Amino acid sequence: MYLQRRNRILRKSAAIRSLVAETVLTPNDFIVPLFIDEGENIKTEIPSMPGYYRYSLDLIILEVKELWKLGIKCVLLFVKAKDEVKDNTGKEAWNPDGLMQRSIKAIKDAVPEMLVMTDVALDPYSIYGHDGIVDMEKGVILNDQTVEALTLMSLSHAEAGADFIAPSDMMDGRIGAFRKALEENGYTDVGIMSYSAKYASCFYGPFRDALDSAPGFGDKKTYQMNYANRIEAINETLQDVEQGADIVMVKPAMAYLDIIRDVKNAVTIPVSAYHVSGEYAMIKAAAARGWVDENKAIIESLTAIKRAGADLIATYFAKDAVKLLSENL
Ligand code: PBG
Repeated sequence: MYLQRRNRILRKSAAIRSLVAETVLTPNDFIVPLFIDEGENIKTEIPSMPGYYRYSLDLIILEVKELWKLGIKCVLLFVKAKDEVKDNTGKEAWNPDGLMQRSIKAIKDAVPEMLVMTDVALDPYSIYGHDGIVDMEKGVILNDQTVEALTLMSLSHAEAGADFIAPSDMMDGRIGAFRKALEENGYTDVGIMSYSAKYASCFYGPFRDALDSAPGFGDKKTYQMNYANRIEAINETLQDVEQGADIVMVKPAMAYLDIIRDVKNAVTIPVSAYHVSGEYAMIKAAAARGWVDENKAIIESLTAIKRAGADLIATYFAKDAVKLLSENL
């Protein structure tokens, strides 16, 4: 055959394939979620997240040092609050001596350059496992009261030294409220990474095991988005940009690549994607049975998320990915 153009020329060898690769993962792509527990010398494997652990603060410091050595520059903190401190106001969330506040300080002391982002939502502190304050008579999550509580929570994270707050609650108007509070209180260099398009997803199940934060009644469908919707994600995202978000997020990631791309095309600020706990668990479970190659599944999944348009990826596979990249797999 005479062919003017042979597409396979650019796929002929590993060398040419890597020269023309459009998407390349680097350690700068990753945000590492960390689960923190009270106590000392505690490292508990999360049953539905094999190979992922909840650490006490002393051990988290070692983990953060190791991540920094690997070239990872950002962690996202989640804490497991004790049952005794849970209520329906969420007030432990802004306790200056709370586990989150102590963790932020300890991590910034140990590795000052590590970017520390913090989850902002009431679920770890809520007796009902909801992200906001519950009106039990009506069985609803109260928007405006929750935003007030989360504003106090955000300020207390800023006070403790957080670089970015990362609101995952999906209440209306929260980004504007947090930005105003940060400005008015002099935290003018604290960023907001907004979970802008966060869907009500079954893929958060293992995370709720990790923090013992599953909703005690109902579900989160009155505040998290319906996964049937695409245009709504743009609406949510543009509102957050207007209200002062520095980074927006789509969550989950793998089943939402179309949303990541739509959001990427709609905004001019960085877009992150959260490769969530259930997505981690699926790869782990299939790999444990020998049904997929774990390392290849990790790199292919993360590359696809970046290709879709994610500038940053929060993923439980960050450490594995960085090691695999350095081994050139
Ligand atoms: C809580 C929160 C959740 C996740 C991040 N922040 C769970 C939820 O909304 O129920 C999920 C993360 C994951 O599954 O990895 N507001």
